[in-house]
Order: sequence, then C-alpha cells, then structure tokens
Amino acid sequence: NLPSHVRIVEVGPRDGLQNEPGVVETATKVALISALGDSGLDYIEATSFVSPKWVPQMGDNKEVFAAINGDGVRRPGVVYSALTPNMRGLEAAIEAGADEVAVFGAASDAFSLRNINCTVIESMERFQPVCEAAAKAGIPVRGYVSTVMGCPYAGEVDPEAVGWVARRLLDMGCREISLGDTIGVGNPMQMQRVIHAVCSDEGHGVPLSAVAVHCHDTYGTALANILAAMQMGVSVVDSAVGGLGGCPYAKGASGNVATEDVVYMCHGMGVETGVDMDALLAASRLISHALGREPASKAAKALIAK
Ligand code: HMG
Ligand code: MG
Repeated sequence: NLPSHVRIVEVGPRDGLQNEPGVVETATKVALISALGDSGLDYIEATSFVSPKWVPQMGDNKEVFAAINGDGVRRPGVVYSALTPNMRGLEAAIEAGADEVAVFGAASDAFSLRNINCTVIESMERFQPVCEAAAKAGIPVRGYVSTVMGCPYAGEVDPEAVGWVARRLLDMGCREISLGDTIGVGNPMQMQRVIHAVCSDEGHGVPLSAVAVHCHDTYGTALANILAAMQMGVSVVDSAVGGLGGCPYAKGASGNVATEDVVYMCHGMGVETGVDMDALLAASRLISHALGREPASKAAKALIAK
C-alpha cells in the first residue's frame, strides 16, 4: 500500500550547497532555484539564516531571497523556505520574504551541541518563541529531527528519543516533522521502527500526514528507507537535486538522496510527484556543470547518457 502522491521537499540549494567546500556564487544558486521551480517542484528550501561564521556557504541568504522575490525567479504555488535556528534567524527570514521557515533539532545531544551549540532540551526552549513569533507573522514552520537513525558522535539513537522530539516540535506548532538520517546510516527496518515510535498510539501519536523523511545516502540505503517509510504511509520526501549535500557538522555524511532517483522510483510505481523529469534533469545539469562534476544521481546519469 503506497500513497498515490508524494510531495517532494527539494533541499538541494540549502542542504546540498551548505556542504560544498567552496562558496557557490549567488547567481548560480538563484539559477538553480529558478530551474528547480520550472520542474514542477512546489517546495524549495532555498537557504538558511544561520551564523555565517558557522556556515559561510549560506552567508548570502538575503541576496538569494532578494533574487527570488525580485526578478522573475519566483513561481506561483511554490513555497520558498529557509532554516532558522533562533529568533534572529526568524526575523531575518521574515524580513527577506521567506514563505516558510524550519527549526532544526536532533535526537542526540552530542549532535545538537556541535550543530547548534545547545542541548536538545535547550533547543526546544529556543524553538518555542520562534514558533510563536512565526505563527503571529502567519509563517508556517517545519521541524527537523536530525540523527534519527544514528549520530556521528554518540552512535546509536533510541527511536523513543526521536518520538519525544518529534512530538515536542509538533506541539509547539510545527506543521510538519522531517525525520533526518543525517549521516545516512539507517536501514529500512530501522526506519519503520522510528516511524512507529513517532506515529503510533503506543508511541508519540504524531499523525503520519505530518511526517516527512530526510535521507542521506552515505551507505546507499536512502531509497530503500524512503520506500519503507512510504509503505507505512509517509507521503513527504526530502531530497536534493543531483544528490548534493551532507552536513558540515556531521563528518563523513554524504549527500541527500537525489531528487531524480526519488522521482524515477515514484513514477515507476505509479506514485505521482508533479515533477517533470526532463526539466529536473536540466536543473541537475546546471548545478553539476557549475560544480564541475557529475551528478551523484544514478537516474540522472542513466537518463542523460540515453
Ligand atoms: P551560538 O554561538 O550558540 O549563538 O550559535 P549566539 O547567539 O551566541 O551567537 C553567536 C554568533 O552568531 C554571534 O555573532 C551572533 O550574532 C551570530 P558574533 O557576535 O560572534 O559575531 N548569530 C547569527 N548570525 C546570523 N544569523 C543568525 C544568528 N544567530 C546568531 N540566525 C547558532 C548558535 C545556531 C547561531 C549557530 O550554532 C549556527 O549558526 N549553527 C549553524 C548550524 C547549521 O546551519 N547546520 C547545518 C544545518 S542542519 C542540517 O544540515 C541537518 C538537516 O539537513 C537534517 C538532517 O540531515 O538531519 C536539517
Ligand atoms: Mg540534511
């Protein structure tokens, strides 16, 4: 039993480009965001409003949004979102014209401390006012839980801890909870255990309709993990064009699952995504060319070679 439609949350311009060793030019980012909007993707995570000392790759966040809102980049019906770790980030994102924001917590203190410099509990205290102020401003909030299937610093993560954080984020007003396999170590059975802990009545009762999965593909298990989540009823999938990505605070983590691969798998199973593969491949080629390397997507390589 699979959902008939999967909504793809395209995180390439943020999760992908935040992890590039060099800072990608703003114009290239904007061209990528524009091409992604042309492909039928209706949710694009464009940048993050974090400290430029921590993540210099996202230091042009204001300019990226100025371009989205300024000169024909924005497509009607597309949500352009940004990460906001604190009030300062939220205020900057609102000022810049983001449609939606995301707070990002973790199921592991060790990761949370390295990523956002506070414990999991402290992060919940920081996110509460962000959610309240966003609600007042009429801006929806997405909530991430990182390290749901393993932590680069602490190893194993208890699904119960994931469920607890997911529930807290939902209760503070996040409209959707994205479960992140930050370092791509999980397997499909583990994914199902995590979703059970998050969503079941014995677990934390987060509605399946409010859950997304965010898989990195370090060990090649991302698509299998996504399918396992879809089989449990999850219908929102985060991915990055060309398999761009990683996380600067998660050593060894490779890119997100490639959007092209998710689209190929879904369409092959009769699951709609609303994404046009040819237009998506154009976006993939654009960023691969700019970065001077082939896309990490198997589907893109196969289809471009055809
Ligand atoms: P902190 O040092 O605890 O915060 O950092 P602070 O309030 O003490 O501020 C420190 C400095 O940052 C100050 O500047 C602030 O002004 C500045 P200074 O006085 O040193 O010049 N600052 C800011 N600047 C711009 N925008 C802001 C902001 N806030 C403070 N919003 C903080 C806390 C969260 C800011 C920091 O740790 C940070 O920026 N971390 C970045 C984390 C990040 O972006 N990680 C990658 C994204 S998460 C991810 O990839 C995982 C995900 O994909 C899911 C998955 O795969 O699992 C989402
Ligand atoms: Mg990520």
